[in-house]
Amino acid sequence: MSQNIVVLTGSGISAEAGIPTFRSSDGLWENHRIEEVATPEAFYRNPNLVHQFYNLRRQKLKDPLVQPTLAHLALAELEKQWTSSFSLITQNVDDLHERAGSKNLIHMHGELQKALCSFCKSRFEWLNDLSRRDVCRNCGFSGRLRPDIVWFGESPYHLSEIDDALDGCDIFISIGTSGKVYPAAGFAELANAKRKIEINIAESDISNRFNEHRIGLASIEVPLLVRKLFEESENLTNSGLPL
Ligand code: APR
Ligand code: ZN
Repeated sequence: MSQNIVVLTGSGISAEAGIPTFRSSDGLWENHRIEEVATPEAFYRNPNLVHQFYNLRRQKLKDPLVQPTLAHLALAELEKQWTSSFSLITQNVDDLHERAGSKNLIHMHGELQKALCSFCKSRFEWLNDLSRRDVCRNCGFSGRLRPDIVWFGESPYHLSEIDDALDGCDIFISIGTSGKVYPAAGFAELANAKRKIEINIAESDISNRFNEHRIGLASIEVPLLVRKLFEESENLTNSGLPL
């Protein structure tokens, strides 16, 4: 019996790497509510402010102290060794999962280190600050580039691929997400899995949709869970049951 795994991560998995979660402390950035910066309307009203917000976050990824945690590394190891299918869906826009070695990774809310041209819709790597003066590498227009981030009111990326993964999964694992933002918050319910595991330092808005809970730091709980999954699958193999 194959055990397909789908993992959903949120900003809690990167908190211990020094990247603040979205709704930590007061949920404010320079007296602006996060929701007021992360919208197409905010960008239309005040592009410089929105660029500044994301430029700071993009710069933070170059801080040598910001590195994948044991949780990111354990997920990459799980993917490498797991014999059935494994998909990792992240709401995070940092690059810590890929730096840890994850391959089958979906960035449903976009990526900080990419720019999106609102004119020709092309997306490409962008590692430095982004401003209204920058020129699209594809169509050559200036003033059309924006961070490749899915803002409030916009549709996340790869939803049909995510749907297929949730449909075919046996184990669904959610790590470090508050369950406040849909559609990701609905994945636990949509997942066809019999086993639904939540890892968080506290109860979330969607904790009641899981049948296993691990309360604690992602850097501790994720490696423990990964080890347990390997042990369980080994026991199944040794018992002679087909995996
Ligand atoms: N280990 C595990 N969980 C943690 C840790 C940790 N070290 N630190 C914080 N958490 C948990 C918090 O308890 C909280 O439930 O991580 C969660 C972070 O929640 P949010 O800040 O709401 O972040 P997230 O769920 O990723 O937000 C979803 O909202 O703003 C949008 O697009 C943005 O992708 C983001 C989405
Ligand atoms: Zn363009």
